[in-house]
Amino acid sequence: MPRKPRQILVTSALPYANGSIHLGHLVEYIQTDIWVRFQKMQGHEAVYVCADDAHGTPIMLRAQREGITPEELIAATWEEHTRDFADFHIDFDHYHSTHSPENRELAETIYRRLKDGGYIRSRVIKQAYDPVEKMFLPDRFIKGECPRCGAPDQYGDSCEICGATYAPTDLKNPVSVISGATPVEKESEHFFFALGEFEPMLRQWALEGEHVQPEIANKLREWFEAGLQDWDISRDAPYFGFEIPDAPGKYFYVWLDAPIGYMASFKHWCERTGTDFDAWWGPDSTTELYHFIGKDIAYFHTLFWPAMLYGSSFRLPTAVWCHGFLTVNGQKMSKSRGTFIKARTYLDHLNPEYLRYYFAAKLGAGIDDIDLNLEDFQQRVNADLVGKVVNIASRCAGFINKRFGGRLSATCCEPELYAEFAAAREPIGELFEQREYGHAIREIMALADRANQYIDQHKPWVLIKETGREAEVQAVCSTGLNLFRVLVAYLKPVLPKLAEAAEDFLNIAPLRWEDVAEPLTDHVIDPFKPLLTRIEKEKVDAMLEDAKEHLEPAAPAKPASAQSADIEPIAPEITFDDFAKIDLRIARIVRAEHVEGADKLLKLTLDIGLGTRQVFAGIKSAYAPEDLEGRLTVMVANLKPRKMRFGLSEGMVLAAGPGGKELFLLSPDEGARPGMRVK
Ligand code: 2FM
Ligand code: ZN
Repeated sequence: MPRKPRQILVTSALPYANGSIHLGHLVEYIQTDIWVRFQKMQGHEAVYVCADDAHGTPIMLRAQREGITPEELIAATWEEHTRDFADFHIDFDHYHSTHSPENRELAETIYRRLKDGGYIRSRVIKQAYDPVEKMFLPDRFIKGECPRCGAPDQYGDSCEICGATYAPTDLKNPVSVISGATPVEKESEHFFFALGEFEPMLRQWALEGEHVQPEIANKLREWFEAGLQDWDISRDAPYFGFEIPDAPGKYFYVWLDAPIGYMASFKHWCERTGTDFDAWWGPDSTTELYHFIGKDIAYFHTLFWPAMLYGSSFRLPTAVWCHGFLTVNGQKMSKSRGTFIKARTYLDHLNPEYLRYYFAAKLGAGIDDIDLNLEDFQQRVNADLVGKVVNIASRCAGFINKRFGGRLSATCCEPELYAEFAAAREPIGELFEQREYGHAIREIMALADRANQYIDQHKPWVLIKETGREAEVQAVCSTGLNLFRVLVAYLKPVLPKLAEAAEDFLNIAPLRWEDVAEPLTDHVIDPFKPLLTRIEKEKVDAMLEDAKEHLEPAAPAKPASAQSADIEPIAPEITFDDFAKIDLRIARIVRAEHVEGADKLLKLTLDIGLGTRQVFAGIKSAYAPEDLEGRLTVMVANLKPRKMRFGLSEGMVLAAGPGGKELFLLSPDEGARPGMRVK
């Protein structure tokens, strides 16, 4: 019995309009696109919308730097982004911009409703202000010394060395990243969204039912425990965004109107297609709404966003689904390692479907990071897609075309085998539905193995040489092509272009999920054309070479205050007794590891003769873990252990240099052994 089609609205996070799409972004768009294509193949009404996230200080400043208007910058970026997405076969129903009339109108509506509901409060706050640029400074535009550990060059919100979080006003010797000037404190009126008012509703939405993944529910429990703070939703001019109604010079903070961009994009689509927007977004909507996002923006999507919707009488999301980050060859994408790969750099060398397949094979429903190991990528795509799937067609199609005028046998010759393949559509479909793509791919490849075994057993290339066995050859090859057709249908959400090419030569209408129930019989196919070629290592290497060359220009020049003080002044005098309090020891680095979520830290396990110590060191920008393991260095062994976000740090290793690549770990001369005291 045909099921009632579902009405499903799906979004991916809106990329900022001041940078290129890179492979890290693509995990999410590919994940979402596969899901939407799967739903469409099922016959559901699925709509996939997205937009550029066009507002905020970084976009304003970038346009200034380039000597263009923000509007020009976001228009150019929109062109670039939509081309990149299209070339990766990301099939949005609409791709909009948050700097659009629909978004302005919706943001104003939501704001007014929240205000009328008593959820917007105004307060005067003190904020860092750049007296040269005459603007308030977002936390990320202030740098200085960490108020806790004194580490230099830390952002205004948190220290990446010791993990402390603080207000930008707490930084020592702060400078504006824009002008290099010392920020001053200035008062200004801000508008706050009273998130705490929504706590009962949010607890219910987030912790009951399946609106978020279990890992995110745990995070939410922590956030509820910590208490929901008011959210500052206004920014002062100069700012690139929407001015707040009845508040001249005040703008909506970019994160207020960004998620509203989902609605705005959909609204534009509704106008284009004559769809009733309210039926999808009204409080009693029976349609489904899913947001695919990265785990780093879960707070915005599972707290602020549902609260904003609820407070302004719109529907709530059916679910918010987070994914992990992308690593390349086991490490965070890095410009200096040449593994920061833009979408376009990839496309210049490789077929997008290779990456779609590889990501699918690695994706699950959880929030674990996924790794693009380039060797494994090449090996896996070649073995699975070329070696298994395409191979089935190329082994069978030639005989059918040359010997039988392209005609498949009149009956299905292996009904049981075919039935087994067709029956897999239920479990495989369920895996796609649950976003367990990796598992789905394993099932599909197991079927591909079966199909190849079948052909190996019957050896049409041998049969064809024996007289009177033509019908058998036709039967075997027809079966092979029918099994291939089923596999193509299952892979179609992942590999839409391969599917199109296969539909073309099989001479069939676009495959839907249910089509696999019945095999093709007595049907004439077209000549076979190669569907996919192997990945050559040279192409991967050339892409990596290119990625190195396409590095963005270096970061803006260092603030004046940092340039003038190349050599740090000598610290105040201490006595020998003071010095003797510091217990320095020779240590062997027995293990060095990356720390999830930390940009600058490596976790070191140090052998100091008397046992091992764990130390978090801010040296990741200068050292790869594998270069450290085994070497000797010097550590402060009697520093009071410090609890950091990532675990306990039991000391400190010694290094010289200002930071970044310029960090130099100390090494003892030959002969020193772990545990020896340095004095
Ligand atoms: O983190 C980001 O890249 C944001 N531009 C995502 C916005 S998603 C949504 F809320 F608009
Ligand atoms: Zn610190």
